Amino acid sequence: MANPYKIKEVRAMEILDSRGNPTVQAEVLTQEAYGRAMVPSGASTGKYEAVELRDKDPKRFHGRGVQKAIDNILTILAPAIIGLDAREQQTIDAKLRELDGTPNKSRLGANAILGVSLAVAKAAADTGIKHLFEYLAPREEYVLPVPLMNIINGGVHAGNQLAIQEFMIMPVGFDNFHRALQAGIEVYHTLGKVLKDKYGPVGVNLGDEGGFAPPMQDTREALNAVITAIEQEGYKPGKEIGLALDAAANEFHTKGKYSIDSHRLSPGELLDFYRELSKEYPLISIEDPFEENAFESFSQLTQSIGQSVQIVGDDIFVSNSERLQKGIDMGAANSLLLKVNQIGTLTEAIEAAQLAGSNDYTVVVSHRSGETENTFIADLAVALSCGQIKTGAPARGERTAKYNRLTKITHDLGRNGQYAGNQFRKCKVTR
Ligand code: PGA
Ligand code: ZN
Repeated sequence: MANPYKIKEVRAMEILDSRGNPTVQAEVLTQEAYGRAMVPSGASTGKYEAVELRDKDPKRFHGRGVQKAIDNILTILAPAIIGLDAREQQTIDAKLRELDGTPNKSRLGANAILGVSLAVAKAAADTGIKHLFEYLAPREEYVLPVPLMNIINGGVHAGNQLAIQEFMIMPVGFDNFHRALQAGIEVYHTLGKVLKDKYGPVGVNLGDEGGFAPPMQDTREALNAVITAIEQEGYKPGKEIGLALDAAANEFHTKGKYSIDSHRLSPGELLDFYRELSKEYPLISIEDPFEENAFESFSQLTQSIGQSVQIVGDDIFVSNSERLQKGIDMGAANSLLLKVNQIGTLTEAIEAAQLAGSNDYTVVVSHRSGETENTFIADLAVALSCGQIKTGAPARGERTAKYNRLTKITHDLGRNGQYAGNQFRKCKVTR
């Protein structure tokens, strides 16, 4: 009998992401099924990320077309994997990397390579009539992640003056995912009312990730609004709902200093600022507190407040095992933000998560600010059972697609799915 997992065709086309920019969709057909993946795209991208190939043809989409990446899929990647077994993810990913031949996937494009890599996994899962998370990690029990819900947007994701890019809530004090999500949504809507009362209609403009982008400029002003919303909804800040930040500090760093809240702070002063914030507010997680090369500052902050506050590395690690290893060696951060398109293949992303887990780092699976309705990362978070996912505000289709997928997984798993809740820092990715 023919192998049902044998790849018989690969398709690719240019589709749109949530900002209306072109991106890659790849489709992989096995003998019996079909898998599709859509590639996300960042705005506050790290310098060390794998390369997203753009056409730079000013006549199409202001140069942002991805037709070259599509052509690379159709003419170079597809012929190399047709005939292979879709379950051979590692072999296929190794082949994709070899065909590219560069360390940062700049020849064929990480967007081309990732599209194929993820579509292969989905095709294999569907061929075996399995949920994607089950196919990726077959076992009896899974952990449902705490969502880091981005409800106030700043930085390059918003047209306001907030230096810090993301003000998030983490509904940790609940015993199941759906109830936690409900709390997050209630706070989000109440925050909308709080902001509208204070700033008028412009207070409820939205940023790229669906969070509010009110005309604020001060970090504490944003944190206070979030605390007010949590309390007005009747929830206890710090007990039921913790706060998290993604500073994305690369974006407000120039010439060795950080421009924030009308000040130009040295790394040491910025560290003190975070320490003060962590005393004043129930902050439980801070991502990218310093720029992408500041391993030293990351480790000082981790030394200082890392016990009570998770310190997450995004642009500094770019989901890259080599950079993560350097961080581990230096004690920089205690958590890895995992974005599949920063590294470009599923295999490498999983390896980075495992490296994090085996060194006692937590893992937060993450979307990008430019997203699609694809829900791969929801399944990935459950498969890794890493206990945390960052996928934006609980609003706008490209974000709610992930939340809805997690709700469906919660429902289907029943008793075999445990919400990470306030144990989120104890969840470690295992091999
Ligand atoms: P990006 O932002 O997708 O624009 O890079 C997300 C993040 O910094 O975590
Ligand atoms: Zn980030």
